[in-house]
Amino acid sequence: MTDKNAQLIHEITYSFYEVATKDFLIGYQFRKIQEFKSSDPLSPPIEAFKNHLPRIEKFWRVQLIGERLTKEDQRFDLINIHKSLNPNKGEVLRWVKLFNETLDQYEDDSNRDFIKLWRKKVSEFEKRFLTFLF
Ligand code: HEM
Repeated sequence: MTDKNAQLIHEITYSFYEVATKDFLIGYQFRKIQEFKSSDPLSPPIEAFKNHLPRIEKFWRVQLIGERLTKEDQRFDLINIHKSLNPNKGEVLRWVKLFNETLDQYEDDSNRDFIKLWRKKVSEFEKRFLTFLF
């Protein structure tokens, strides 16, 4: 069960980034990532985010399947990290819409409860972002 959900977290995380990093509204935000290097800036290959993605995957494993951060892991200071990107409200809503569309694509009878939990988490972060970023 957990292995299956960990695999799903991996696939959904990467799938979302394929879309979000090329999106006409929020794609430019991901080009601010320090490690970002791409010969094709408007349609970057997913490998351009290869150091960033394991961190995002870890975040969702902590949120969704109870994985713990170790002493060596940096904490997730989400509000401050996103504050420095200076997104507007529309960009937060766009992020949420694209994320839910990715969840739609993966949802089926075998994972409905897990995807429902994921949507609930996304909605909680949306509220937190809208409250603390603006
Ligand atoms: C609303 C729910 C959101 C969640 C749950 C979320 C989650 C995360 C996480 C876990 C990280 C990694 C933080 C770290 O390395 O410590 C991150 C970084 C990042 N997020 Fe988000 N995010 C959200 C919204 C957004 C939005 C709205 C944008 C832009 C439109 C965005 C763009 C980015 C970028 C560019 C980074 C990389 C920052 C850097 O490493 O320099 N995120 N996000």
